[in-house]
Amino acid sequence: MQLTLYMTSTLNGYIATENDDTPWSTAVWKSYYTIAKKFNAIILGRRTYEMMKEVNELEKMGNPFTIVVSTTKSPLHSNVIFVMSPKEAVKVIKEKNITNALIGGGGKLNASFMKQNLIDKLGFVEKFERNIAKHRL
Ligand SMILES: NC(=O)c1ccc[n+]([C@@H]2O[C@H](COP(=O)([O-])OP(=O)(O)OC[C@H]3O[C@@H](n4cnc5c(N)ncnc54)[C@H](OP(=O)(O)O)[C@@H]3O)[C@@H](O)[C@H]2O)c1
Repeated sequence: MQLTLYMTSTLNGYIATENDDTPWSTAVWKSYYTIAKKFNAIILGRRTYEMMKEVNELEKMGNPFTIVVSTTKSPLHSNVIFVMSPKEAVKVIKEKNITNALIGGGGKLNASFMKQNLIDKLGFVEKFERNIAKHRL
């Protein structure tokens, strides 16, 4: 099992604007979807999951099996499961024999995985021509 954290970030370490926009170019988004499709599952923080769901972002990634980390338990959907912690997310990945999962943000979720030393690989798409502010990786 391998866990890869992959994020789009400005060179100075911002991952979104203060109102949660991620104003990357079409080419950057396309590259992100291509990368995301190589994984068997995606792990998301509850806020990012809600944002992605609203704009059908998961569809563009081919509707991967999705694990949402949240302290608020939610009902099970067919392809989406809610867990209470990063460690529980890892447990699900192992139980389902998933070999290759993407940690897809946002900042809080990524920080939790980093602090608990649960990441095997780290990847960035850097977008340096726009200096956006607020959400730091
Ligand atoms: N640039 C990129 O590649 C990229 C990718 C994804 C997201 N983003 C941006 O990131 C921002 C969202 O990030 P965020 O930090 O605000 O939110 P987030 O990490 O997406 O979600 C935070 C929520 O996830 C749950 N959570 C996270 N860590 C947890 C832990 N260790 N244990 C239990 N629950 C945990 C909690 O949910 P509950 O409150 O339900 O307990 C928490 O409130 C948005 O602006 C989004 O656009 C950028």
